Amino acid sequence: MQEILEKLDKRRGEARAGGGKKRTDAQHGRGKLTARERIELLLDEGSFEEFDMFVEHRCTDFAMETQRIPGDGVVTGWGTVNGRTIYVFAKDFTVFGGSLSEAHARKITKLQDMALRNRAPIIGLFDAGGARIQEGVDALGGYGEVFQRNVLASGVIPQISVIMGPCAGGDVYSPAMTDFIFMVRDTSYMFVTGPDVVKTVTNETVTAEELGGASVHTTKSSIADKGYDNDVEALLQMRRLIDFLPSSNTAELPVIPCLQSAEDSDESLDTLIPANPNQPYDMKELILKTVDDGDFFEIQEAHARNIVTGLARIKGRTVGVVANQPMVLAGVLDSDAGRKGARFVRFCDCFNIPIISFVDVPGFLPGTAQEYGGLIKHGAKLLFAYAEATVPKITLITRKAYGGAYVVMASKHLRGDINYAWPTAEIAVMGSRGAAEIIYRAELEDKQKIAARVKDYEARFANPFVAAERGFLDDVIMPHSTRRRIARALDMLKGKELANPWKKHDNIPL
Ligand code: HXC
Repeated sequence: MQEILEKLDKRRGEARAGGGKKRTDAQHGRGKLTARERIELLLDEGSFEEFDMFVEHRCTDFAMETQRIPGDGVVTGWGTVNGRTIYVFAKDFTVFGGSLSEAHARKITKLQDMALRNRAPIIGLFDAGGARIQEGVDALGGYGEVFQRNVLASGVIPQISVIMGPCAGGDVYSPAMTDFIFMVRDTSYMFVTGPDVVKTVTNETVTAEELGGASVHTTKSSIADKGYDNDVEALLQMRRLIDFLPSSNTAELPVIPCLQSAEDSDESLDTLIPANPNQPYDMKELILKTVDDGDFFEIQEAHARNIVTGLARIKGRTVGVVANQPMVLAGVLDSDAGRKGARFVRFCDCFNIPIISFVDVPGFLPGTAQEYGGLIKHGAKLLFAYAEATVPKITLITRKAYGGAYVVMASKHLRGDINYAWPTAEIAVMGSRGAAEIIYRAELEDKQKIAARVKDYEARFANPFVAAERGFLDDVIMPHSTRRRIARALDMLKGKELANPWKKHDNIPL
C-alpha cells in the first residue's frame, strides 16, 4: 500500500514541477510567478482543488511523443475567494510556453462547463503563446471550443482574464471575449502576432512593449481595464474585484457590511461646485464621498478619462458608478467615452448591479476627428446601453447637462428610476452663450444686446427648476445629503421589476 501512495506522490510531484527547474528559474528571473504560485495567491489559503493534473497531450508529430509533461501547460481547478466559489485556470509558461494543445483545451473547456453549470465566476491567468504549433488544427479547434464557451457564459457568469506574460493568438482572443482584462506592467504583452511577424509582414520595427504592453492597452487601445505593477498586486486586486461581483446573473449581489453610516451628511459637498461654471472640479471627490468607505474599484482608469466608471458599494451592496469628469476635456462625451461607458453599463445590467450616474457634461465633442471616427455610433452605444438597462438607475446632475448628453446620461426619458439634481444644475440644449448667439444671430454685432440675451437664457435654463417643474427630475437635493438620498433610493428600488420586450437579442450599434 505504502508503495502505491508513494507512486501517487511521485506522479503529483512530477506534475507540480511543470517544465522543470531551469524554466521555473527563468520564469522567476523575469519577475513572474509560476502558475501554481499565482493560484495560491489568488485563492483563500488551502482552498485550491486541482483537476486533471495527469492529463498529457497525445500528439506524435514533430517527436512530441518524447516530450510529455503531466498537466500539459495549464493548471485548472476551483477554490474560494473570501469563501465564495471561483473556478480558475492558469497557463504554465514553463510547459511549451503555456501553448494550447487539444488536451490542454479540454482541461479548460471542462472547467468552463463546470463554472457555467454551477454558476460561479471563472478567472483565467494567461501567460502563453497561443495555439500549440506542433498540433496544427487540433489546437485551433481547441481554441474554437474555448471561444464558444466564452460566448455562452457571457452575461451569465463573470469571466475575468489576467494577462501575466507574453500572450499571442488564442490567448488574447479568449480574454477579449471576457468581461475584464487586467495586465501586469512590464512583464505582460498582448498581441495577435508578435514583433517578429510584424517585422516580416509590415517591415515595422516595434518592441513587445510598444506593440502590446500594459502601457498601450490600458491607454490607447483600451483592450485592458487596468495595469498592475507585479503579479502579487494583480492577484490581490482580483480578490478585491471578486468581492464586488455576484456569482452569476441570477445570484444576489454580495453584501459586505459597512460601518460608515448612510445617514450622515457631508457639508464639504455644498462647496464642491466652483462659482465659475467653466472651472473644473474633481468628480471623483463626489464618488468617494458617496460610496461606502471611499472604496472605489475603477475600471479603465487610464483610458477616456473624461468619463469615470467603476464598482463601489452603498450600504454594503455593490453599485456601478458612471460619472462625467469635468477635470478632463470638461467631461465632454467623445467616441472613447461612449464606448467605455456603454460597455460598463451593459456589464452592470447583465449582472443586476444598480447604476449610479453623476452628470456634469457639456455635450458631445465637435470636430472632424470625432465625426470621422464614428462619434455618432459610439455615442449611440452609450445611449443604447442606458436605454436598454433594466437595473435600478439613479442619476444625479451636479452641474451641466446639455443637449443630447443630458438625454444619454440615464435621464428620466431613458427610464431613469430616480433623477436628482443639485441646485447648481443647468439643463439646457447648450451653454447660454452658444444658445444666445444662435437664436439671436442678427444681433451678434451688438455686444451689449447679446450679453443681455445670454443673461436671459441663463436665467431661464441655468438651473434645475424647469426640468423639475416638468417632473423630469424627481427632486432638487442638497449636495450634503447625496449619500443619504442615493442610499434611500437604492433601498426603495430593491424590488424593481422591469423587462424589455422579448427578442433574440438586440442590435446595439457596434
Ligand atoms: C508551441 C511554443 C509556442 C507555441 C512558445 N512556445 N509558443 N510551443 N507552440 N505557440 C515554446 C517555445 O518553443 C519555447 O520552448 C517556450 O515556449 C518559450 O518560448 P520563447 O519563444 O522562448 O519565449 P519568449 O521569447 O518569451 O516569447 C514568447 C512568445 C513567443 C512571444 C509567446 O514564444 C511566440 O511568439 N510564440 C508563438 C506565438 C504564436 O504565433 N502562436 C500561434 C498563434 S495562432 P522551450 O522548449 O525553448 O522552452 C493561434 C490561433 C488561435 O493562437 C485562433 C485565434 C483566432
